[in-house]
Amino acid sequence: MTSIKTFIDTNRDSILEELFELIRIPSISAKPENKPDMIKAAEFLRDSLKKAGADRADVFPTAGNPVVYAEKIISKKLPTVLVYGHYDVQPAEPFDLWNSPPFEPEVRDGRIWARGADDDKGQLFMHVKAFEFMTTTGTLPCNVKFMIEGEEEIGSVSLEKFCRDNKKMLEANVILISDTTMIAPDIPSITTGLRGLSYVQVELSGPGHDLHSGIYGGAVLNPCNVLCDMIASLRDKNGRIVIPGFYDDVLTVGRKERDAMALRPFDRDKYMKSIGVDDLGGEKGYTDLERTGIRPTLDINGIWGGFTGEGTKTIIPSKAGAKISMRLVPNQKAEKIAGLFRDHFLSIAPSGVKVKVEYLHGGEAYVSPPDTPEYQAAALAMEESFGKTPIPVRSGGSIPIVSTFEKVLGIKSILMGFGLESDAIHSPNENFPLFNFFKGIETIPLFYSHYTKLKS
Ligand code: BES
Ligand code: MN
Ligand code: MN
Repeated sequence: MTSIKTFIDTNRDSILEELFELIRIPSISAKPENKPDMIKAAEFLRDSLKKAGADRADVFPTAGNPVVYAEKIISKKLPTVLVYGHYDVQPAEPFDLWNSPPFEPEVRDGRIWARGADDDKGQLFMHVKAFEFMTTTGTLPCNVKFMIEGEEEIGSVSLEKFCRDNKKMLEANVILISDTTMIAPDIPSITTGLRGLSYVQVELSGPGHDLHSGIYGGAVLNPCNVLCDMIASLRDKNGRIVIPGFYDDVLTVGRKERDAMALRPFDRDKYMKSIGVDDLGGEKGYTDLERTGIRPTLDINGIWGGFTGEGTKTIIPSKAGAKISMRLVPNQKAEKIAGLFRDHFLSIAPSGVKVKVEYLHGGEAYVSPPDTPEYQAAALAMEESFGKTPIPVRSGGSIPIVSTFEKVLGIKSILMGFGLESDAIHSPNENFPLFNFFKGIETIPLFYSHYTKLKS
């Protein structure tokens, strides 16, 4: 019988070529002009899943981008694993920082370089190929369903309704997701927590048009200055967010779990070097890992106003604005936090400027505890393929739809990701090491067999 290693060795080139075809479709969900590419990518995955051995594979239209659904049911008595992934990607700008074009994947230094190479085309494609291996070798031990969306990077706007409308079709014992990272190629880990997100946009308007900053400067409130003051005042000198009620619902993590977290290997110098900074900073009283793992944050993602072209222009701008995201931890509610933000932000606005606050999207944090059959199965699978017991890790990133899956479908998710922090997802020169990609394909069938054993 063909082993997974033989399957990978014999099909290596065709597996990569098929993934590259998917990557070449610029399915950027944030851009309306890429709408046709969203449909192309969905149809491509439908065809791949069909070819891989699915009994059915369909593209479901939604109010936004289509969802790909596929399944192979071998017995009602066996457990069902629902694989989730996303075929949409982030915009690739700034293009000039890429060493090779973002949608022309190539292999250099043992890595695939392209937008989506890791997040999430590369990672979801490991599942397609692992599934193909199991169907063609007759080793699929349980039922499998696939749900692949095209709006993850813009807040999964249509997927909640899709889940509500198709509850029966989506029935499963567990949701399996590869859209997170592991510590290092030789240090496997499993993500046991994701942060939530509350994303807002603020806009300040002052004078009806830009003013001469000499004639008016000093007497008229400058929206850019006011915006800076207002945003700066949202945090105190210890890095704590001062929005009233912001921390009220935060589940504090006990000393025991914090001590366990501290055992995770973390090289601070290497970390700083990898991102090009000479120091780190954050909320007082917490370690670097705690700051991303168990504490909420408030970050400006973009800020604008006034003149930013070359040279100088002496004005008091008429408008200023910012996009602000707050990462949330378990128990905080995205909409409630957006409301607290709005109330506070409006309350600190001086007269002389008009302030608008808009809630863009959000989702709750997620915890996936280690004492579950799905965690055990993932741990056994990784132990077998990496030769090391994986470490549980609370990630700072967000996949907001995961908490919705629990709420709407009543199904827990297991986050068995194979990316690395150095994969530069969302950045220029996104990449995915071939080692991780093929290790993923190798590990996934092991998850299925361990999970099926543990559940029967
Ligand atoms: N795959 C990432 C999330 C991720 C990456 C989690 C690495 C943990 C480790 C996902 O595609 C993503 O980018 N999520 C967004 C949220 C979304 C609503 C825009 C995020 O975390 O910013
Ligand atoms: Mn992703
Ligand atoms: Mn992403």
